[in-house]
Amino acid sequence: MAYSSTGKKHRLKDDASFRRFVPLVSITCLGVFLLIFLLRMNSSSNFVVPFSDEFDEVLLRSYNRSLISRKLNLPKQNEFSIELEKRNQMPPRNLDLYPSLAKDHITVVLYVHNRPQYLKVAVDSISQVVGINETLLIVSHDGYFEEMNKIVEDVRFCQVKQIFAPFSPHVFPSGFPGVSPGDCKDKDDGAEKHCKGTPDQYGNHRSPKIVSLKHHWWWMMNTVWDGLNETRNHNGHILFIEEDHFLYPNAYQNLKILTALKPQKCPHCYAANLAPCDVNARGEDWDSLIAERMGNVGYTFNRTVWRKIHKKTNKFCFFDDYNWDITMWATVYPSFGNPVFTLRGPRTSAVHFGKCGLHQGQEGEKACIDNGAVNFQVQDVDKVANINSDWEVRVFENQPGYKAGFKGWGGWGDKRDHQLCLDFAQMHHL
Ligand SMILES: *[C@@H]1O[C@H](CO)[C@@H](O)[C@H](O)[C@H]1NC(C)=O
Ligand SMILES: *[C@@H]1O[C@H](CO)[C@@H](O)[C@H](O)[C@H]1NC(C)=O
Ligand SMILES: *[C@@H]1O[C@H](CO)[C@@H](O)[C@H](O)[C@H]1NC(C)=O
Ligand SMILES: *[C@@H]1O[C@H](CO)[C@@H](O)[C@H](O)[C@H]1NC(C)=O
Repeated sequence: MAYSSTGKKHRLKDDASFRRFVPLVSITCLGVFLLIFLLRMNSSSNFVVPFSDEFDEVLLRSYNRSLISRKLNLPKQNEFSIELEKRNQMPPRNLDLYPSLAKDHITVVLYVHNRPQYLKVAVDSISQVVGINETLLIVSHDGYFEEMNKIVEDVRFCQVKQIFAPFSPHVFPSGFPGVSPGDCKDKDDGAEKHCKGTPDQYGNHRSPKIVSLKHHWWWMMNTVWDGLNETRNHNGHILFIEEDHFLYPNAYQNLKILTALKPQKCPHCYAANLAPCDVNARGEDWDSLIAERMGNVGYTFNRTVWRKIHKKTNKFCFFDDYNWDITMWATVYPSFGNPVFTLRGPRTSAVHFGKCGLHQGQEGEKACIDNGAVNFQVQDVDKVANINSDWEVRVFENQPGYKAGFKGWGGWGDKRDHQLCLDFAQMHHL
């Protein structure tokens, strides 16, 4: 059985070639990036948050909380960033349609960057998920993008709340965590060029666009588990999905079965997953459950596991790799002391459809979007829960993949990024 994740390899191959083209690409990107910044800043001045008076008290409290957070040396926030932080305190929408959540609901967190065509596909698939109307969907944005925001505002199928990472690099056009004028670039020698920054293990300086993803994931985790009024006391599981994931209609029901079976069927499993850890696999169609290494599509865990992850903040924040998932596989999970297994069904309930990995726009001629025409075969068996609680568990031991000892792909060497990452872990624990 080949369980190597070809999807991951593809991404790494792209990363490697990306690294080779760093000098050329980054000059082009820098130009484009600056242009985007200018345009964005222009439009962000029109950015109006539709507040009503009844939220004032909440907003003031959150605003003060952000003042307290500055004790952590968080970057000085501009108005745009503060607006985003305030907006994160707004209650979920659709409370009129879905006034309450099911007692045993699994909160769904969809974290997104800026790929509207993908998000549309993902949201359409979620709208067809049976049982979704009993839970809360939280969409975590890596900054603010109008088109992305619009797609989520149209959601009517469940309670939905949007949060916007207020320290996303693109929110800061002229200073850290964004591009700062005095920063070193590429393989600059800081002493010689009198520029700022600590290079990674391969001698490259930080790229705001690239560190953004790991920062967002970590900010989102800390905010959802420990910050948001809606979820910081949630005792159940939380499902995490990305904008290029397609959910089958049975995803939520299967997940409820899996998380309920986990304590008896697989006490040593940390999580439940909707998809195999090999993102290209669709499952074995066996009459059994499967325990395997933790994947990155549709992973679902509870607060006990989050606390374990949070305790490894230093490992997460100092590991020189800009990928959050590789950081988890190579440092955080191995530090738990025993193999980190996840429980899943024999047939996938989610698929990863993005072709571009995360660095869209840096892969030259390859088209990332199929004009929104993504065709998934949803068969009858994918429409209803298809996990049998009588099934045994088959365990896949020693699967290939990133492990302790891997030294990282770099891109995460700057001390300011390490500090910001540590601050995110602290911001709700003052
Ligand atoms: C903010 O916090 C300070 C000190 O903690 C307090 O004096 C002040 O009243 C607070 N402001 C608001 C609007 O709650
Ligand atoms: C939720 O959806 C189910 C069908 O999937 C329906 O039977 C139920 O009435 C819905 N509940 C609410 C509160 O909309
Ligand atoms: C916090 O969330 C609860 C529901 O979980 C809600 O009843 C309460 O009003 C919220 N409080 C604030 C301050 O938003
Ligand atoms: C959360 O999940 C872990 C791992 O499956 C389990 O050991 C723990 O008991 C669960 N915690 C709660 C509060 O259910």
